[in-house]
Amino acid sequence: MDRRDFIKQASLGLAGAGFIGSSLANMLPAGLTGRKYSSLMAGNMSGRAAPKLETVRIGLIGIGNRGSGAVNRLPRIEGVQITAICDIETDRAEKAKAELDATVHRPRLYSGRADSWKALCDSDDVDLVYICTPWDQHAEQSVYAMEQGKHVGVELPAAKTIDECWQLVETSEKTGQHCMMLGNTCYDFFEMMVMNMAHQGFLGEIVHGEGAYIHDLMDLNFSETYYHDLWRLRENSERNGLLYPPHAIGPMSKLMNINCGDRMDYLVSVSGNDFMMADRARELADENDLWKPFVGKNYRGNMNTTTIRTQKGRTIMIQHDVTSPRPYTRIYLVSGTKGTAQKWPMPARISTSHTGWLDDEAMKELETKYTPEITKRVGDMARQVGGHGGMDTIMDWRLIDCLRNGLPLEIDVYDAALWSAIAPLTEQSVANRSASVDIPDFTRGAWETNKPVMDIQLEQGGTTKII
Ligand SMILES: NC(=O)c1ccc[n+]([C@@H]2O[C@H](COP(=O)([O-])OP(=O)(O)OC[C@H]3O[C@@H](n4cnc5c(N)ncnc54)[C@H](O)[C@@H]3O)[C@@H](O)[C@H]2O)c1
Repeated sequence: MDRRDFIKQASLGLAGAGFIGSSLANMLPAGLTGRKYSSLMAGNMSGRAAPKLETVRIGLIGIGNRGSGAVNRLPRIEGVQITAICDIETDRAEKAKAELDATVHRPRLYSGRADSWKALCDSDDVDLVYICTPWDQHAEQSVYAMEQGKHVGVELPAAKTIDECWQLVETSEKTGQHCMMLGNTCYDFFEMMVMNMAHQGFLGEIVHGEGAYIHDLMDLNFSETYYHDLWRLRENSERNGLLYPPHAIGPMSKLMNINCGDRMDYLVSVSGNDFMMADRARELADENDLWKPFVGKNYRGNMNTTTIRTQKGRTIMIQHDVTSPRPYTRIYLVSGTKGTAQKWPMPARISTSHTGWLDDEAMKELETKYTPEITKRVGDMARQVGGHGGMDTIMDWRLIDCLRNGLPLEIDVYDAALWSAIAPLTEQSVANRSASVDIPDFTRGAWETNKPVMDIQLEQGGTTKII
């Protein structure tokens, strides 16, 4: 019996004993941490709540570009206490600590070694480990944190291999700790409005979606200092596929109720050639030896296009291009039997026929009708605090609000595993002349009965303030 069969069997056993699928199973008793639960196994984490935390004590790992944004945003949320920060580069951790020491937060500092983050996860004054390190560390740090009885918020993607994706699922199910991938684009304003329209039937049956991560990172990838130890250049020089799927796939999955009503079945992925990165590496290496290891590498194609088919017969097309000189786009197109929404190129538009897009007045009416409660409640404050126009703050706020109200997290470990798995699956497809590749069902069949948990109308919770 392999690991997956064992888990499946054990889950069935728990289901038989009434632990899974009952409302009781969706609430861990207050005061018991995941670590204490490890021998029992929490089972299906979809829709599962953890005990309420009035104050959420956060330990941050990785205070680079993204982590320093979190250091600014998180203290603006009621009930947050930043108790620990860690970065392998001591000056970064010290700078963040100095900023926080000037406020009500007095974080402990963990630094100096590649594994200093373990001590942060071991400490008993942390409830949530918030991870903003390079991609190849995410799964190991998330698994370790959950095993120490901590919830996890982890940057995109949560894992790099299919095996790591299963490790996340199995650890979350075993410990009962949440593992949320920090999918900020699920909380962007237009995306949430369109989700509301879709769920209320305005777009009819959803037929097809498109998303992308088209973001010119050429200069940043070849900057000597921007990314720690050139981690992002290494990723782009060693793998060929759609390397960064969650921005595109996240909001589409939430809108289509993937993992809770539908599931991704298979994908085909096509990469073109690399037309730019190898040339840039060669040019730079003529001047500076730093770039010599990046000459002659097998860079990912400039453009990758991947198409996914869902079990219910919908299609999702996603693209990835981080070098071509194009304006930023995540496309975000949703096509239904009664209408279409498309965000990029801006301005975002809606249509209900083949004749064209609705005019400004009609758009205003739709906004009035379909702006969800979450935007009404915290949208203005989130815009003030910022973070990609406010969506980062809304995401952080809802994460903390759910933990404080003892609600299930809206992006769960199955989403983290699935959205991350798309990258290695596209690598497999690209390596095999774009052959179709099956997409694992990380819910092990529970997608058929799981209920959607993203609650943009704030039927529950929504009580936390942004300050
Ligand atoms: N959601 C978004 O919109 C968004 C935007 C930017 C970046 N990201 C993601 O955030 C993550 C970090 O990206 P970034 O741009 O901040 O990179 P970065 O290189 O600026 O930051 C990474 C930080 O991790 C630290 N670090 C590396 N190894 C460590 C270790 N073993 N222990 C402790 N600290 C360690 C580095 O010193 C650095 O400060 C990536 O996953 C990236 O994809 C997400």
